[in-house]
Amino acid sequence: MKKEFIIAGNWKMHHTASESIEFFKALDGKIAEHPELAREKRIEILIFPSFISLYPLKGISQKIKTGAQDIFFEEKGAFTGEISPLMLQGLVTYVLIGHSERRHVFGEIDSDLNKKVKTAFKFGFSPMLCIGETLVEREAGKTFDLIKEQLDKGLEGLSAEEIAAVAIAYEPVWAIGTGKTASPDQAREVHSFIRELLKEKTPAFRDIPLLYGGSVKPGNSFEILSQKDINGVLVGGASLKVEPFFDIIQSSYKIVAK
Ligand code: 13P
Repeated sequence: MKKEFIIAGNWKMHHTASESIEFFKALDGKIAEHPELAREKRIEILIFPSFISLYPLKGISQKIKTGAQDIFFEEKGAFTGEISPLMLQGLVTYVLIGHSERRHVFGEIDSDLNKKVKTAFKFGFSPMLCIGETLVEREAGKTFDLIKEQLDKGLEGLSAEEIAAVAIAYEPVWAIGTGKTASPDQAREVHSFIRELLKEKTPAFRDIPLLYGGSVKPGNSFEILSQKDINGVLVGGASLKVEPFFDIIQSSYKIVAK
């Protein structure tokens, strides 16, 4: 079976600008040593570095795209510490919206995230909306209700064409940075549910990339990426070093090249 994948690394608050440049050069070099991978159009490689690394990373690699870890919904003004969409123009393709740390550490709520999704479209970025349940919610049997609520509220008011252009990252909060990965069955079950929900929102629901995130590493990426309705991975810890991240990219290549 041939599939298309997005292999994304979310660096969170790691790597200075110079460390980021070093990483990009090293990963780009490793990809160049594998011409079949360098030519492969069905695998998109994406890194979400710190904001200050975006400008220095510009043009370093043709193969590795950059995304922003967040975006603010106002263009300019008295919003200390926020990042304007105007400042991201020309630097990123994707913007991450509603990562679980934004929701749970910084208290972002669905209505703010919906504004951010709309802002991303206004400025020509592809929003990658993150959704996922906590352990308490999973154990209380609320996973599916919560996923539906986050998806409905996050995508509220968007046209079917816009919804067709979003990416969704399912990241169960209990699997982030804990070493606990959702089992392939657990991940597939939620991904299929998200696909069904998207069916009601756009005729292009099959083409929307659904990424899984939460303790993805070289040892489990092949199995995760082999699941139906999983079109990529959003990797935290294992994306910080070139070797494991490259191994995850290679596991996606094994699937597309089959
Ligand atoms: P880990 O891969 O470190 O669990 O982080 C996942 C994540 O939050 C990616 O956005």
